[in-house]
Amino acid sequence: MNYEQSAKEQAQRLRRTGHATILALESSCDETAAAVVQDGRRVLSSVIASQIPLHAMYGGVVPEIASRRHVESVDPVVDEALKSAGKTLADVDAVAVTYGPGLVGALLVGVSSAKALAYAAGKPLIPVNHIEGHVSANYIAHPELEPPFVCLVASGGHSHIVRVEDYGVYTLLGQTMDDAAGEAFDKAARVLGLPYPGGPQLDRLAREGNPHALKLPHVQTQGRYDYSFSGLKTALLNAVNRLRQQGQEVPAADIAASFQHAAVELLSEKAVLAARETGAATLALAGGVASNSGLRNTMNDKCQRAGIRLVMPPPILCTDNAAMIGSAAYYRLMHGETAGLDLNACPSLRLL
Ligand code: KG4
Ligand code: ZN
Repeated sequence: MNYEQSAKEQAQRLRRTGHATILALESSCDETAAAVVQDGRRVLSSVIASQIPLHAMYGGVVPEIASRRHVESVDPVVDEALKSAGKTLADVDAVAVTYGPGLVGALLVGVSSAKALAYAAGKPLIPVNHIEGHVSANYIAHPELEPPFVCLVASGGHSHIVRVEDYGVYTLLGQTMDDAAGEAFDKAARVLGLPYPGGPQLDRLAREGNPHALKLPHVQTQGRYDYSFSGLKTALLNAVNRLRQQGQEVPAADIAASFQHAAVELLSEKAVLAARETGAATLALAGGVASNSGLRNTMNDKCQRAGIRLVMPPPILCTDNAAMIGSAAYYRLMHGETAGLDLNACPSLRLL
């Protein structure tokens, strides 16, 4: 029997049993990650090799450098994930991989490695959308969580409010009209001269500042649940430039706190509104920006007031990791979705 036939049969068998231990790979941007996840919810191991120091001197991710480092890291990271889960490749039931969205060269490293591993072990290959991975981090953090729920996905490249109707089934409620939330944080951080990656640095600095020091616009959009961050970014840039031109000191902590306050108000207000108006009992957070301390606190307050249950992964599961890919892969597998060895990277893959 050839590989594809045998993998399909195994996938069907796993689907019947409802159980699968999955080795998952993630390499869409600047983290090489591998994890072993049991039945979509239990993380047996999760290894993340961050490339942050490598890109810091350039002020952002350099795609070619990222791809090369993924090539160097992927095998040791996979070995470590298997080892710390107490498994061998023969023990896992399937291999999953992020195939988009992301940097094409970076994605290709994970996709090629996962194909090689699946083929060598004769196991099914499961393609995973990175954004769906972010949403699925909530299934790991909250083992009792089931759709439907509303989810705010705020990462470096995406800002969506979606209604998760069922596993893998989404309805778009709102999205950004311009910059993604993480991108806005990163650009604001750059204006303040903070090193890459700006989001977490700005978060840290904001804790020491006055969030009401600088009045920033509350940008309105036509769509009720849509976002726009570019006006906020321009207002920040203008305020900082004005201070510099006047030879005044730029109070970086106050500016960071004011920006974070404005961005968090925007994100949380629309997400809670969307949850409330669509009758959702639960609101989930996902993506790198969901690790922002201001967003987590404000969401807690707003959801409590609105009588909505708030769920969110711990910060380490909000930023890029492979455990979330292993969780999403389990539900894809249970819906009979596997890939052939012709799987390709899809840099602009959409969630819906
Ligand atoms: O989800 P993620 O790790 O990668 C993508 O899929 O894009 O998100 C990365 C983004 C970056 O823009 C980063 O600056 C932002 O999330 N981020 C944060 C924080 N941690 C990560 N933004 C604000 N506050 C944070 N604590
Ligand atoms: Zn991500």
